[in-house]
Amino acid sequence: MRNVWRAVLDGMTPYDAGKPLERLAAELGLPELVRLSANENPLGPSPRVVAAIAHEATRVHLYPDGGALALREALAQRLGVAPEQLVVGNGADELIALVALAAFERGDEVVVPEPSFEPYATSAILAGARVVASPLAGYETDLDDMRRKVTGRTKAVILCSPHNPAGTIIKKAPLLAFLDALGADPPLVLLDEAYCDFADDPEYPDGVGLLARYPRLIVLRTFSKIAGLAGLRVGYTVATAETCDRLNRVRAPYNVNRLGQAAALAALEDGEHREQTRRLVLEERAFVSAGLRKRGYAFPPSQANFLLVKVPDAAALRDKLLRAGLLVRDGAGVGFPGHLRISLGLRETDERLLGVL
Ligand SMILES: Cc1ncc(COP(=O)(O)O)c(C=O)c1O
Repeated sequence: MRNVWRAVLDGMTPYDAGKPLERLAAELGLPELVRLSANENPLGPSPRVVAAIAHEATRVHLYPDGGALALREALAQRLGVAPEQLVVGNGADELIALVALAAFERGDEVVVPEPSFEPYATSAILAGARVVASPLAGYETDLDDMRRKVTGRTKAVILCSPHNPAGTIIKKAPLLAFLDALGADPPLVLLDEAYCDFADDPEYPDGVGLLARYPRLIVLRTFSKIAGLAGLRVGYTVATAETCDRLNRVRAPYNVNRLGQAAALAALEDGEHREQTRRLVLEERAFVSAGLRKRGYAFPPSQANFLLVKVPDAAALRDKLLRAGLLVRDGAGVGFPGHLRISLGLRETDERLLGVL
């Protein structure tokens, strides 16, 4: 019989994002369900974003700007890079896939922390590359182990800081030492900074600032978290113009929609909303962390907008929280059995959370 599908798909399962929130709430007979399982922005988008989307809505019959020029120019100005050093994607997710499509071939190795954000491995496997897993040391990225796993066949190393799901960061000195140790002809280093806006450790490095010194670096960021645009899917990479040129060769012509581009531009202009989000996350992180500690829970200190909490029976506790109207992520689904990954919410939500715990 003719085998029409790629053999690599036999080992893959479709990503299961769970039931739609409203459907789940209805099934449970709950008037409301708060999602604390997807690390979203509890404040919602900026009012300026909502206005920009409304304004743009009458023009959705027109294709978007395929090069996202206005958005790249605005980002370039903020980040102190050239617009040619940016590629905008349909969420950071798409850019992970584009890196794989542009760089990975059969036989290539990709060193990935284990566990970590799942699409890294999926994209590499789909591209035919071999994933070389580097186990976390506790909750920390083990750069020594990752370095040891880099060989002549390594096409890329993927780092995530703050790490999803652990919430930990890679500090500047060890990161620089790692990048230096890769030598003059290093593999690509994809540094995923999806949660960078929530880091307040003074030793947290600015990935974009490292590009001049490490040209194989690709910094990945998103409007999903800090700007609350998860539903519109806008992310970007910052890299050398040469790297961006390669990514653009595999990018679909109109990969970022018109509303997403308008919204991201408006979000960039609203520093107040950004600051409000950051302040809320930092305050709630301290509040929930203190509440958890008081109740005897153990968890790594988080630099992200979520906490990974060690619990005696994750499935039972997730269920209990669900019945109380709070949806959290069972760590078993993200490589940390015996844990819950809990996004930080508004104060009222977080008080309810601690109440149940
Ligand atoms: C570490 C990490 N990278 C990338 C993404 C994807 O972001 P986006 O919504 O822009 O696709 C996420 C989303 O949760 C994430 O946790």
